[in-house]
Amino acid sequence: METEKKIIISIDGWSSCGKSTLARQLARELNYVYIDSGAMYRAITLYFLRNHVDWTKPKAVEEALQSISLEFIYNPKSRQSEIHLNGENVEYVIRDLVIAEKVSDVAAVGAVREFAVYQQQQMGKKKGIVMDGRDIGTVVFPKAALKIFMTADKAVRIERRFRELFEKNPNITLEEVRDNLEMRDYIDSHREISPLRKASDAVELDNSNLSMTQQFDIALNWAREKIAGA
Ligand code: DC
Repeated sequence: METEKKIIISIDGWSSCGKSTLARQLARELNYVYIDSGAMYRAITLYFLRNHVDWTKPKAVEEALQSISLEFIYNPKSRQSEIHLNGENVEYVIRDLVIAEKVSDVAAVGAVREFAVYQQQQMGKKKGIVMDGRDIGTVVFPKAALKIFMTADKAVRIERRFRELFEKNPNITLEEVRDNLEMRDYIDSHREISPLRKASDAVELDNSNLSMTQQFDIALNWAREKIAGA
């Protein structure tokens, strides 16, 4: 029997649309590797904050990037690959609002994007990958076989993100979450380099009124069609 061809699946979209949940489910079902590209920008931001790197200064950024090593390592306990920054598992600290407040600025820096995109493209060489982010279908893998662009009503996204953060920090307010989400959406879609936009050949998935199972079924069908035609 001919072995099934592997493809690249990109999932882009606004913050807190459920991209990573869907990407993870697809990867598990298809036995593909899931890469959370946003985690890379978050880990770089963590490094910059910890080491007081001024990311408006190109020289400082260039030097700092030389000291950063990022790796995704599978954790059998959580059953997912988790990001390590210079050998330290930072998967959970990078979800903090402190990081979310700065990450869009850091991700708009050209040298940071070059650094991350190069590594993302290396990870996709063997195909069999689901990667989520903002520029995966447009810049990182412009030839990805399946490109999904996810959207959801803003109120739904704010509510989802609030619930997620509230579990870890009961002091957080809906206003803080809304402000952060709006700010990130604005910066991510208006920056000069690789702004968030839907690739012309992407399929749109609005999950405002879909259950997780419904959205998964839709995306899995798309993936199976593309794999069959690969
Ligand atoms: O997906 P996320 O919220 O973890 O991403 C964090 C930030 O990183 C987001 O505000 C924009 C940036 N990002 C990006 O610019 N390009 C990507 N491919 C992924 C994330």
